[in-house]
Amino acid sequence: MKRYAFDEIVSHLKNTGYVYQGSEIYGGLSNSWDFGILGSYLKKNIKDLWWREFIEKNPNNVGIDSAILMNPKTWEATGHLKGFSDSMVDCKECKSRYRADQLIEEATGISADGKTPEEMDEMIENHNIVCPKCGKHNFTNARPFNLMFKTYIGTLEDAKSVVYLRPETCQGIFVNFNNVLRTSRKKIPFGIGQIGKSFRNEITPGNFIFRVREFEQMELEFFCEPGEDLKWFEYWVDACYNFIKRMGVKEENLRVRAHDQKELSFYSKATSDIEYAFPFTDWGEVWGIADRTDYDLKRHSEYSKVNLNYRDPNTNEVYTPYCVEPSVGVERLFLMIVCDAYDKETLENGEERVVMHLHPAVAPVKACICPLVKKLTPNAREIFDDLINEFHVEFDEAGTVGKRYRRNDAIGTPYCITYDFDSLEDNAVTVRDRDTMVQERVKIADLKDYLKKKIEF
Ligand code: GAP
Repeated sequence: MKRYAFDEIVSHLKNTGYVYQGSEIYGGLSNSWDFGILGSYLKKNIKDLWWREFIEKNPNNVGIDSAILMNPKTWEATGHLKGFSDSMVDCKECKSRYRADQLIEEATGISADGKTPEEMDEMIENHNIVCPKCGKHNFTNARPFNLMFKTYIGTLEDAKSVVYLRPETCQGIFVNFNNVLRTSRKKIPFGIGQIGKSFRNEITPGNFIFRVREFEQMELEFFCEPGEDLKWFEYWVDACYNFIKRMGVKEENLRVRAHDQKELSFYSKATSDIEYAFPFTDWGEVWGIADRTDYDLKRHSEYSKVNLNYRDPNTNEVYTPYCVEPSVGVERLFLMIVCDAYDKETLENGEERVVMHLHPAVAPVKACICPLVKKLTPNAREIFDDLINEFHVEFDEAGTVGKRYRRNDAIGTPYCITYDFDSLEDNAVTVRDRDTMVQERVKIADLKDYLKKKIEF
């Protein structure tokens, strides 16, 4: 298996307009990124596919779109106000700041997950851990740092007007549990999903868009009868894994890792992460699937004093549903897809081509229409004008056809459609496949169906 340097992939994404540095003209803003012309399409395609597969095509599920700013009591109920923190330490010599658990893990290979700040101080001492930047062993004590972004609602900036940017989208689902039950005809088991922005003031964001402070989550909260939860847990681990596989990601780069007892949140009965072999690490989490039991509904019920139980219409039994949650960040899926798709090949003539083997369903541009020579532009334009009604296609008449192929290979366009002089006679065009580079003649009248079949997910 070929592996490419992460820097090479990142610079390709920047050069081709997938991702731009955030606020670039002002010198940027620490670890913020903007999605460019192609990146915004790739992101949209990923989100559309998720919505289609997890919400629309699944008869059990419905979707909502809840607000980012929520009543702060939400975060008391969930424990985020008290406990959603990482411990940080500063190097007293060079002033570098670290997440204590990461510092420990990178130096010793021992996980510090779930350790208190005091326990982490002890580990730093006992293992004589030094600052990776300056090599000195002189740290402040580890202290917790809440990851929620704070802001104010209304005109007064006082304690009463504090609100938080949500750190996860799922709480907007739990608080709407009764509303969805009331306005849908769903019975348990059923799921509520949503896609939206989440914010975390990460101490050490990094690895490009892997860990950022502003990101999009796609979360599904799937409610079921207690006792049925582990069955659904397995079901959703498989469904998420298959979704990734169907997007064309190579299985040799994927694994499912079950959390052991020590790693599990106190309210979770089971959690598994789908991980990808990113170029910058051995394995990085992409998708977390957790059996959250009845924790969230019970806590919101307790704090809001609103009954969030469910009455089974057949048996009249009343219970608090259990919840299985597959949760994924759009940026993580994006990064996995592009790392997996990026490739360099040497052609027979010795030329090198950079190609992104993106699944046609996620590729930003589905096909590029190329007149062989400018004289044929009006005829080729007609094809473009017709196809654009159905697909995001582009038109390119600049440079040799070979150059246009390379340009499209590099951005992952799966098909190039060339209108040549024979087209005037046979009403057909040459369709060139990005991956095999094989060309076939397709009747113009059949082009739409041809592309539809190829792009199908
Ligand atoms: N509601 C559960 C929850 O939010 P999580 O493991 O904290 O669980 C779920 O986050 C997913 O969100 C992760 O698997 C990852 O894909 C994505 N994610 C979390 N923090 C992120 C960050 N700082 N930057 C980018 N994606 C992030």
